[in-house]
Amino acid sequence: MPELGVILLAAGQGTRMKSALPKVLHPLGGKPLFLHALGTAQRLCPARAAVIIGHGAEAVRQAYTANDVDWLIQDRQLGTGHAVLCATDAFRDFLGDVLILSGDVPLIGESTLRALVEHHRSKRAAVTVLTALLQKPNGYGRILRGRDGTISGIVQEKDAGAAQRQIGEVNAGVYVASAPFLFAALSSVKNDNQQQEYYLPDIVAVGLAQGKSIETVQVADAREMMGVNTREELAFMEKSLRETINRKWMLAGVTLKDPDTTYIDESVTIGKDTVIGPNTQLRGKTVIGERCQIDGSAFLTDMEIGDEVQLKFSVVMTGSRIDNGAVIGPFAQLRPGTHLGRNVHIGNFVEAKAAEIGEGSKASHLTYLGDVTIGRDTNIGAGTITCNYDGFKKYKSKIGDRVQVGSDTTLIAPVTLGDDVYVATASTVRHDVPDGALVFNPREEKVRAGWTERKRQQMKGSKK
Ligand code: UD1
Ligand code: CA
Repeated sequence: MPELGVILLAAGQGTRMKSALPKVLHPLGGKPLFLHALGTAQRLCPARAAVIIGHGAEAVRQAYTANDVDWLIQDRQLGTGHAVLCATDAFRDFLGDVLILSGDVPLIGESTLRALVEHHRSKRAAVTVLTALLQKPNGYGRILRGRDGTISGIVQEKDAGAAQRQIGEVNAGVYVASAPFLFAALSSVKNDNQQQEYYLPDIVAVGLAQGKSIETVQVADAREMMGVNTREELAFMEKSLRETINRKWMLAGVTLKDPDTTYIDESVTIGKDTVIGPNTQLRGKTVIGERCQIDGSAFLTDMEIGDEVQLKFSVVMTGSRIDNGAVIGPFAQLRPGTHLGRNVHIGNFVEAKAAEIGEGSKASHLTYLGDVTIGRDTNIGAGTITCNYDGFKKYKSKIGDRVQVGSDTTLIAPVTLGDDVYVATASTVRHDVPDGALVFNPREEKVRAGWTERKRQQMKGSKK
């Protein structure tokens, strides 16, 4: 069987996006647009793969971490045909078939690509074009067919006459071509058209003139071939991708109380019988266990969450780990590097950053825990602050097991509280406290009888 190669076109600016960011880097489902088609193509295990880059080349290249593709530069964006020509040298010794994909056609399915390659090979065609029948073909190149129904060319919308614009069958921008034919044909494609570009689909006309066999395959589900040219199309696709992802998780046993307002990145995983409330965004590499309950308005990025964890209404969490049975929120924030042990409770208006909190410990109200290690079964009172920053450097605090930190305590880091320490309310702790000790700041409490009335009289007098 001939070898399979892949060329993905990703050099264009995406003028219609009106953006400083190259179009193929706009995120869809949490990852750059072009990585969708590239990932799908890689599942066909091609013998070689190349991405044509130009606009924002370095940034586009940085977006892909594996090193199994060649990055080929198209200096000036003279059209899709010219873009493929930039792969001539890289494919000089390649005699197999080349699958050509657009970086802005993200939802193309693996089985569609396999069917396209299979058809191409069974017909021994020079080129096989993926097409689609659309109700609204606007914006796409149209497929021209002769009386016998075979393809006779592809015309771009801008070059099409009124009658041609009525045609509903469009070019999906996905092709398989035999490599030697492809590069030879492209070298004879001209740019004498409305946009003065070298059009890749013009290889169809070149092939027909040479008497080659040109084939088409119609995509079963037209949603797969939708291209992204504007932000409106991006939003539409985001919605369609979101529906697919949400459906997958519901079928896998996850309850989404309001799928319309649930946003789950492709890279997220969720365990069975977890219940997710409205306005929830699960992003990045977030992993959620089984039987968790997310009340709603949760914004989670790169989180690792065990089983039976409860996130009460409105939480923001990033890059942290939560063990089984923990309860967080409402209105809490976990910043990167935090680890909550089993059954930890984090209550309202608590912020934790790089905090290691042991099993069964609690911080129920109005607290900042930054750069701190806390043992087991410790209780952090309302209004406790770890003062980890002196304006120059950050310092760590350490709090032992079974510690009782009274409300309104400030811990001036670096500081260590041993096990079983008792911190009296409204303490400022500057020095290490040994196991089992009480720490308090002696302050005399004074009461002045009748003070308020005297003050009011005095103020009245001063107004005159
Ligand atoms: C293209 C097709 C059109 C098809 C549609 C399907 C051409 C001339 N037209 O139109 O028939 O219906 O896709 O979505 O091919 N690119 C480069 N270098 C360039 C120009 C483009 O790498 O010089 C890349 C872009 O980054 C993009 C892809 O090629 O990923 C398609 O380019 P785009 O300008 O979006 O083509 P369309 O106008 O959508
Ligand atoms: Ca396009």
